[in-house]
Amino acid sequence: MKTIICKNYEEMSARAAEIVADVMKADPACVLGLATGSTPVGMYKKLIDMNKAGEIDFSKVTTVNLDEYYPIAPDNDQSYRYFMNENLFNHVNIDKTKTYVPDGMAADPDEACAAYEALVKKVGPADIQVLGIGQNGHIGFNEPADALEVATHVTGLTESTIKANARFFASESDVPTKALTMGIGTILSAKKIIILANGAAKAEAVKKMLAGKLDTSCPASMLNLHADVTVICDEAAVI
Ligand code: GLP
Repeated sequence: MKTIICKNYEEMSARAAEIVADVMKADPACVLGLATGSTPVGMYKKLIDMNKAGEIDFSKVTTVNLDEYYPIAPDNDQSYRYFMNENLFNHVNIDKTKTYVPDGMAADPDEACAAYEALVKKVGPADIQVLGIGQNGHIGFNEPADALEVATHVTGLTESTIKANARFFASESDVPTKALTMGIGTILSAKKIIILANGAAKAEAVKKMLAGKLDTSCPASMLNLHADVTVICDEAAVI
């Protein structure tokens, strides 16, 4: 894995946006694999600025998001669909019918996961997948476990993830306890992957990811199986 250590969040966001922009310039009809969470917000701001400046065009772009809480309505301000609209899609010239997020309201979540896996295969693979990393090393909502899932699946959230994400909700009890998430295999099917991490809270997870072992207690370590992964982090996330 290639590692880029940036001075701060601002620089990390700018480097990540440049890499995504390069993919978009090389193929205006590219497929972007996108992530939510606080980490990529700065990168999305840079991409919005570049789009407004006419440097990048989203009109032919397709996007596939990593995950969604379950159950959650798309208009709930904590849903990942809402997040993507607010932090990127509403501000760029993208065709929203080509933006995909797993269905947080599906009557049959297992069926919705199988359909999402098929969709990613059909429109994809993603030319680039953007990832954040959980404090416990999760990617998407692939939580540490004895065995990791290959394909898109329904998952329970760990206590530590519920606690970490409670900051966005009115209270901890409002955090959904389940999610629909791409599996490790779905993520690894992307042609190129960038993973962003900032702040000391991510340092342990980053260290474990870079330790050169495939360790299911740190799902991000599975990225070592991919030939084109760039870790972009700030100084605080490196120990
Ligand atoms: C969330 C998301 C992940 C994200 C991670 C880190 O639970 N499912 O895709 O990368 O946790 O979030 P943050 O960037 O807010 O630290």
